[in-house]
Order: sequence, then C-alpha cells, then structure tokens
Amino acid sequence: MTDRRRVIIGITGASGTILGVRMLQLLRPLPDVETHLVMSPAATRTLLIETDLKADDVTSLADVTHSFKDIGASIASGSFRSEGMIVAPCSVKTLGAIANCLTDDLISRAADVCLKERRRVVLMFRETPLHAGHIRAMQHATEAGAIVMPAVVGLYYKPQSVDEMIDHLAGRALDLLGIDAGTVKRWQGQGGDTA
Ligand SMILES: Cc1cc2nc3c(=O)[nH]c(=O)nc-3n(C[C@H](O)[C@H](O)[C@H](O)COP(=O)(O)O)c2cc1C
Repeated sequence: MTDRRRVIIGITGASGTILGVRMLQLLRPLPDVETHLVMSPAATRTLLIETDLKADDVTSLADVTHSFKDIGASIASGSFRSEGMIVAPCSVKTLGAIANCLTDDLISRAADVCLKERRRVVLMFRETPLHAGHIRAMQHATEAGAIVMPAVVGLYYKPQSVDEMIDHLAGRALDLLGIDAGTVKRWQGQGGDTA
C-alpha cells in the first residue's frame, strides 16, 4: 500500500489539452503524489494540433498511464484509493458520459467510481457557447457530486502570458484536491489586507 496521495488525471479531446499536461508537470516534483493518467484517442489528436507535444511526452510525466479502453485497470475499482480525479480538459462527450453514468471507457468509469466513493471529481469542461443539453449535463454531474470547473480565465491578477493563465487554472483545479501547486495568484484583498 502506497503512502503517496494518488491523483487521477483524465485528458479528453476538448481544446486545452495543455491544462492536463500542465497539471502532470506540476505534480511530478511532489514526492508524496502518485499520478495516474488516462488520455482519450481524441485527446492525443487535439494535443498534436494544439501543442508541439506527442502523446509519449505526456505519458512520461505520469507515474502510471492507463489505456483508455482498459476498463479492468486499477482505477476502475472503488477499492483503489485515491484523492480523486481531474478531467482537464473535459469534452462535451465525456461530460455527458459522466453525467449519465455511461462508463464504457476508463475516463468515464474512473470518474464514476470516484463519485460513488464520494471522492473529488473536477471536470474542466470546455465548450462555448452552450445549449440546454450541456447545461443539463453540468447540473446532473454536479448533483452526482462532481465539481464542474469551466476553464474560464481570471484577469484580476493581470496575467502577462497564456502560460501564466494556464498555470493559474491548473493550480486552481489542483487546489480542489487539496494540493497547492504554488501557481495560483491568490487575491490578497484590494490594496492588500492589513492584519
Ligand atoms: C482540435 C479539436 C478541438 C476540439 N475542441 C473541443 C472542445 O473544445 N470541446 C469539446 O467538447 N469537443 C471538442 N472537440 C471534439 C472532441 O474531441 C470530440 O467530441 C471527441 O469525440 C471527444 O472524445 P473524448 O471525450 O473521448 O476525448 C475538438 C476536437 C478537435 C479535433
């Protein structure tokens, strides 16, 4: 039995695959965290379109990589203990699957398992604009216990680059699993709080 905190990262084919990649990069130096990665085939495709990375570059960041179709993997069982799961980015397809308990791939199965065990599931949903079906799916996922966290950029900290925005978003998602990656520009109060 490992003493390390296990974090499951799912990367789907929505725009913004760099978000999941950045989380793996931030978690890698943490000695007490063990990462488990699942990438969908669509994520591999989107990654190639949006970044200079290949799938191997991403899998090499994770402690364990599971196959998308391996519904017999360790993380497919509730008996496998973890801190929870982040799906970043989360496509409409995967949001819909999780919201409706359709668990025929390992990302939706692992998320469903985390939800039934009452563990954290953070869905960085990425689509815009939204129709009623998307909004209903977000509601159903939320009612099942997931946290829907659209990849919406904050401007209050005056980001100077896209990398800075990605770091902030990735850090905010990791915050929800109780992990401080050190990349969140935390609001100090306007003008700074006085103690
Ligand atoms: C370049 C690219 C960008 C995409 N962006 C999105 C997106 O932002 N949101 C989304 O829901 N789907 C997006 N898609 C479509 C998904 O990849 C597609 O629906 C896929 O079936 C999702 O499967 P998955 O959830 O198993 O990864 C995009 C596809 C490509 C090729």
